[in-house]
Parts: sequence; structure tokens; C-alpha cells
Amino acid sequence: MDTPKPHIAARMAGIAPFHVMDILARAQALEAAGRDIIHLEIGEPDFATPAPIVEAGVAALRTGHTHYTGALGLPTLREAIAGFYATRWQATVSPARVVVTPGASGALLLALGLLAGPGDDVLMADPGYPCNRHFARFCNARAISVPVDATSGFQLTLELIQRHATPATRAVLIASPSNPTGTSISPAELARIHDWCADRGVALIVDEIYLGLTYDDIEYSAARWDDVFVINSFSKYFQMTGWRLGWLVAPAWAISDLERLAQNLFLAAPTPAQHAALAAFSPATLDELEARKAELRDRRDYLLPALRERGFVIPVQAHGAFYLYADCSRFTEDSQAFAGQLLDHAGVAATPGIDFGTHQAVRHIRFAYTQPLPRLAEAMTRLDNFLQA
Ligand SMILES: Cc1ncc(COP(=O)(O)O)c(C=O)c1O
Repeated sequence: MDTPKPHIAARMAGIAPFHVMDILARAQALEAAGRDIIHLEIGEPDFATPAPIVEAGVAALRTGHTHYTGALGLPTLREAIAGFYATRWQATVSPARVVVTPGASGALLLALGLLAGPGDDVLMADPGYPCNRHFARFCNARAISVPVDATSGFQLTLELIQRHATPATRAVLIASPSNPTGTSISPAELARIHDWCADRGVALIVDEIYLGLTYDDIEYSAARWDDVFVINSFSKYFQMTGWRLGWLVAPAWAISDLERLAQNLFLAAPTPAQHAALAAFSPATLDELEARKAELRDRRDYLLPALRERGFVIPVQAHGAFYLYADCSRFTEDSQAFAGQLLDHAGVAATPGIDFGTHQAVRHIRFAYTQPLPRLAEAMTRLDNFLQA
């Protein structure tokens, strides 16, 4: 007789898989069969973590920093992060308002866990970072995906927020620069949204994980206001994806609740990673990171016109991150099938729009310029042959 299967929570029906993982698995299978694949699908640069950070991490392990830290993080790291806001973004942040988390993912989970529950709505852009709507779902809140397009630089505007807000709207989530579009919100629009949220007691969450990778705009941090939940991470600018370390700058009133939540959800961020990150703000590390940022900008400056010349439509300049969100409707009505063919026939892996929402997803594909320039050039040669065939 069959034993009964344990029940799976109803919320799981609302958690979609990452389609990019299917592309990655297929790419890896092709590689195992001897094919050369150019990976433009995964949202992580090809650079290794800078050596001073690695050395600090190894030293931390050797000296026995392998126990829990406090739930809010190492005091020295919280101070260093606060100091970075002052020097880099001219924002005054008290270290007491910095919560160190397992990646920006941990910070997003904490923020939404604090702010949203059953019956609550969270507004966010579509296309956008897919996990956000799943974090909301996990909190049993409703993610309201607001369709955005080139007319607003693929960012929310105050008008869009006003149109989609409900009496149950508890939080507005903005990511700037955005994944998947690389576009930034203007400081003026962010200020208008901030004021609207502040007047209504709606929380404003701004994900600035790509802020340090802003190429030709000013880097404008929402941490200039002390009532905003600002998310950031060591993953992207600091190139520490696998170390699982990020942070949240929260309003002072939220810190003790966030501490309680962090204690319960994950106890603390990884201790060796926190010690390693102390070396992330040294002048030598920052010099190295700025050189890498310049390399990423060169890649963008190559790939964006190269894709446009080939008939992809990228209507808005991507000022940051390492993504280009290209309209491929000239070639296909189904970007997911297109991504599969591009991989199978040309050996170029990219992410279909479906991963980032539903709004015009079938017309879009995301290219991540996470490979060196010669590989990007090879990808364009392969793309030419693929499109001609
Ligand atoms: C917009 C955005 N936010 C958050 C994250 C999560 O980053 P992590 O948890 O590695 O810091 C990502 C990762 O790609 C992202 O693109």
C-alpha cells in the first residue's frame, strides 16, 4: 500500500523556477559533449574575488573566526559599510542602521518579512528581478507587478505607482540599476516616489545591488533618506557572489524587529565572509574594483551597439549593472525558443524574458556581458551566422 505523501504548502504553486537554470543546465550538457559555449546568461561577472578579500577570508578561517557573529553582523563591518555610504555616496548612515545579511537575498527576505504579510500588496516593476515576487509570495503577500517599458526607462514612476496602488499597498520595491534592463531611475523621480510613500506610510525599498556598477550616470543612493529600506550586497560590485554576503540599511525604528527576524531566519551572515569583506573597502581593493568596472563599461560599449546593428532593439541606454535587455521580436515571437536555438545552434547562452515577468517577456532576451571582449566578439560572429541561417 502506498504511504501518503506529506502535504506541500500551497504557496509553492506561486514559486516559479528560474528558466535561466534550464539554459545553464543545457549549456553545461553541451559543454560536457565537447561544445564551446559562450555564457551570457548568468548574472555574475567572470572576475574572481579580489585577492585582498580572499586573503582576509583565509586569515579569518586560520585564526578561528568560525563561530556565529551577532545577528546584525560584525560591528566593524557595519561601521565600514556606513563609512562607504559617506565617502562614495555622500549619505550619512549610522552603523546602527546597517544589518549584515546573507546576500541581498537575505536583506530582501528580511525587509519583506518585516513589512508584508497576508492581505498586503507589494508593488514592483515587470520586468524585474524574479525573486522579488517570490519573496512576497513566500510572505503570503501579493506582488503587484507593474508593467514598465522604454517610456519610463523600464522603471516605476510615481504615476504608475498611483495607478496600481491599492489600499493594501504596504511597500514599493525599486531596483536601480535594474536587473534585467541595466537602466536607472532618475533622482527626481525617486524623490517624488519617496515623498509619496512617506506621506502615506508606505515603505520604500530600493535595491541598489548594482549601484556601484553605474557607468555614465551619477551614483545616487536612496540612503540619503533615513526612512528608506536600502538593499545592497558584496555580490556584484565587490565580486563576492559565492561568499553570500549583503546588507540592508533600515530606518532606526525597524532595527530591533529586523534583529529578531534575522536571529530566527538565519542567526547571522557567514562569519568568514564578514571578516573577508572588511578588506573590501581598502584603497587597493577599490582600485582593482574600479579597473574591473571600467572593463565592464567597455564591454557594454561594445555589446550594446553590436546588438543594435544586428536588429535587436535596445531603446534605452543601460547605464549600469551588466545586462542588456534586447527586444528580439524582429527574429522571433518566442524568446524562450529563440534562446534555446541560439544555444543549440550557435553555442551562445542568454536568458529569455520570461524569467523577469510576463510583460512583453516573449519579445525580450537578456544578454549579460560577463565575458571578456574577445568572447563577446566571438558571440557576435556566431550570432551573425545563426541569424543568416
Ligand atoms: C536585482 C537583484 N537583487 C538581488 C540579487 C541577489 O543577490 P545576492 O543575494 O547574491 O546578493 C540579485 C542577484 O542577481 C539581483 O539581480
